[in-house]
Amino acid sequence: MFFIGENVGDKPFVGIAGGLKGGMFVLEKGMELENKEYLLQGWEMVRGNVDKIKNLSLDLLNYGKPSVDLNHQLCDPNQPVREVVRLMTSRAEDGGIDLEMELSPEVEAFRFDPEAIHRCLMDIVTNALDAFETDPRKEKRVWVRTVMPAGWGVEYQVIDNGCGMDEEIRKKIFQSFFSTKGTRGTGIGLMMTKKLIDQHNGVIEVASEAGKGTTFIIRLPA
Ligand SMILES: Nc1ncnc2c1ncn2[C@@H]1O[C@H](COP(=O)(O)OP(=O)(O)OP(=O)(O)O)[C@@H](O)[C@H]1O
Ligand SMILES: [Mg+2]
Repeated sequence: MFFIGENVGDKPFVGIAGGLKGGMFVLEKGMELENKEYLLQGWEMVRGNVDKIKNLSLDLLNYGKPSVDLNHQLCDPNQPVREVVRLMTSRAEDGGIDLEMELSPEVEAFRFDPEAIHRCLMDIVTNALDAFETDPRKEKRVWVRTVMPAGWGVEYQVIDNGCGMDEEIRKKIFQSFFSTKGTRGTGIGLMMTKKLIDQHNGVIEVASEAGKGTTFIIRLPA
């Protein structure tokens, strides 16, 4: 297995470009050695970084707009979770993190914007994986669940046992450009996530304890 950093540069675009280059390198090795494992790993790295560049570009385009154009479609709310977990599995494995999902069989299709929800979950899961960088612990776990609360279409839960946040940080996480990740974070992620969830008439909640972990909850109306 190749280990190539996700964020090799200072700025997010540089990090993504580095991730793409790393993916291409692993793909080339896979082709040279006719090694299927390298080919698969390289392909996942390219795929994940193309996804990130798409999200970041959309964020920058939408940033100044008071509201984002949503494209509602009849969709299975479990589907964005499957996609995000698939995209993030190799990154979690590289960090020694157990990334698990538990999908409710009870949820039913309803109308929402699947790209927007994918983007929100991608951001929250990425943050959860990042939460082990500053405070590595032995058992690293990120758990993504869907449940079906009465009166809602779906509830997403993203639970990590990473570094957590103190009250001071927790109060600021939805502000634009607030980041504790220095030049590696743009601080757009959660601000945009909140905007997208608000526009779905949903709710986003967070519970966190420094040193213990964080739980994000998103509820969308059917
Ligand atoms: N699961 C988490 N555990 C600990 N801290 C978190 C978690 N999720 C968010 N945070 C805190 O919230 C801040 C803001 O998150 P946000 O996603 O908006 O920006 P970012 O991750 O720093 O940068 P980016 O825009 O690249 O996502 C993070 O910098 C971090 O301090
Ligand atoms: Mg983030």
